[in-house]
Parts: sequence; C-alpha cells; structure tokens
Amino acid sequence: SDTEKGTYDHYMLKEINDQPAAMRKIIQEYQDEDENLKIDPEIIDQLKDSDRLYVIAAGTSYHAGLIGKEFFEKWAGVPTEVHVASEFVYNTPLLSEKPLFIFISQSGETADSRAVLVEIKKLGHKSLTVTNVPGSTLSREADQTLTLHAGPEIAVASTKAYTAQIAVLSILAQVAARELGKGTEINLMQELAKVTTAITAIIDDAPMIEQIVNEYLETTRNAFFIGRTMDYYVGLEGALKLKEISYIQAEGFAGGELKHGTIALIEENTPVFTLATQDKVNLNIRGNAQEVEARGAKVCMVSMEGLDQEGDTYVIPRVHEMLTPLVSVVVYQFIAYYAALHRGNDVDKPRNLAKSVTVE
Ligand code: AGP
Repeated sequence: SDTEKGTYDHYMLKEINDQPAAMRKIIQEYQDEDENLKIDPEIIDQLKDSDRLYVIAAGTSYHAGLIGKEFFEKWAGVPTEVHVASEFVYNTPLLSEKPLFIFISQSGETADSRAVLVEIKKLGHKSLTVTNVPGSTLSREADQTLTLHAGPEIAVASTKAYTAQIAVLSILAQVAARELGKGTEINLMQELAKVTTAITAIIDDAPMIEQIVNEYLETTRNAFFIGRTMDYYVGLEGALKLKEISYIQAEGFAGGELKHGTIALIEENTPVFTLATQDKVNLNIRGNAQEVEARGAKVCMVSMEGLDQEGDTYVIPRVHEMLTPLVSVVVYQFIAYYAALHRGNDVDKPRNLAKSVTVE
C-alpha cells in the first residue's frame, strides 16, 4: 500500500521515487475533460478579488512558497509575499487592503502556521490551505483547500510534498493568469509532463549521484549551496535537506551575495553545490563558482541541458525555465539521502526532529 516501504530501504527513497507518479496524479486531478487546467472557481474568484497574496509556511513548505511567489508574480501579476510562519505571527507586516492568505503545509498540522491562521481569521481575512492532508487542521479551518495528491509522506525529510506543492502552485497561478487575461499562459500540462520524464531520468541516474556524494561529502563537515533567482531558492532547500538528515552543516546562498562575507568560509576542498538552470544568470553564477574555486572550493556544478558547459558535474534534462526547481531539487534529495546513508544515520527519523511540528 501507499504507506508501506515495499522494496525500498527507506521511506525517503520510496518517496523520492514516488515523484513521477505524484506528478501524473496532479496532472490528472487538475484538468477537465478537455484537458484544460481546472481549479475550483471559488478559489480563483478569491484570488482575483485580492490585491496581494501572503504565503505562510515553514521549512520545506516555505521553500516551495518562494517558488510559488515567482509564479504568482510573473504569470498572474499578483504581488506576493512569502513569510516564515513563526515570524509572521509576532511581527505581522503592514497588510494590503484585500489580502489573501495561502498556507502551504504538507501535514496541515504545523502549529506555527495555524497560529497565523487564527490571527488573520480574527482580522476577517480570507485563507486558502495547500496541503497533502485534506482533513487536517489547516484545511478545516481555512476558507478553501487545494490538495497536493502526493500520497502519504512518512519520512521526516520532505521530498514529494515539495515538488507537489510547486506543481499545484504552478497550476493555480496559470489558471489565475488565464482568468485575469494576462497573456502569460504556457501549455503547463505538457510542460509538467516533460518535468515528469526529467525526474524519472534523474531517478535512473541515482547511482551516478551516489558517486557525487562519495566525491564531495564523505569527510566534509560543511557544504554550501549556491544559485541565483529560482536556483537560489532550490539551494536553500538542498541545504535544509542535507542538514536535517546528514547533520552536515550546510548553507544555501545567493551566488552574488557570497562576496559580501560568506566567501571567507571557503577553504581547501569545501564543497559548493552550484545550480545553473536559468539562462539570464548563467554567466553570473558561473562567475561566482569560479570565485569560490579560486579559493580552493570543490564546485559540484549541476546545470541544465542547453546551458551546460564542459566539465559540469551533472546535467539535468531541459524543462521550462520556470519549472526547473521540480527537477533540480531531485538531485539534491538524492545527495542528502546518500550522504545520510553513508554516515550511518537514521534516514527516515533524524535526531531531534518530528514529522510535523505541532508546538509553536
Ligand atoms: C522538511 O524536510 C522538514 N522536515 C520541515 O521543514 C517541514 O517542511 C516543516 O516542518 C513544515 O511542515 P508542513 O509542511 O507539514 O507544515
């Protein structure tokens, strides 16, 4: 069944491998008979009626929210802010006149996010929960729910929920763009199908990614993840994944910001995982990689087909430039998995952590 590991050694490995099926399920759930994108019209009305979106989440779900902001602003033209729930609740920013709150939560039980929901409801604001668990607290208490359809996620380290969140947010933003007549529509279902194929290709390459771990992470105590624009956000997620299960100190950084301090930490053989999937900043991020390499870093360059250069460590298949996080993150999920495995850690139940954090 869905909640069993089957032939996999760990839930995390199973859930990484579940991602192509989850993508196909999402594509199926969010289209009508004519294969047009479909979202509950009431949700779209609420979105059209608001002047600003406030995305509230924690951890990996927060990282998915950062990608969602790109979709909402670039496709739907709706200003969007993304906030860490535990900060928002005690330091609420000045709100717009007609805010819509979007809670992103795999479990739907995260206390920090719920605390925000309770507060904004008191203020009379509208809310939408994007969750894997439709009957959860955040789903019941918000005005609307969008379901992730990723299937149960058991491993503490979130994998398929992150990609499902990004996919569902992309659908929501594209439907909003269509309904608002923005002229920014893409053939999203076709693009998500390409993403699914690309994820499958990476899963097939898992043994190659294990070699990357052998080469870069066997003895190190720290690691950096750099990127620009969307790749920066994926780097934050890659670093979190590595930290929580391998216990290697890791930091995600904007490529251009390194020289403003963090580059001082680069030593001989410090691993720096670098993403290059965005045309606009391809040369810039490669420049940043050279800067750290010149100081002794060992750069693991993960690029996208078409933007790749000789000597890159791993090249992901080409997908739509707004959807690259769905694919590149899978490389980082495997890197974290094998790093934890090689260190003999409890992959599915890392120390000090619970699957859902139900205390503030
Ligand atoms: C992810 O790997 C973490 N275990 C954690 O950051 C998680 O994403 C966070 O606690 C939020 O959980 P939620 O999506 O269930 O609200």
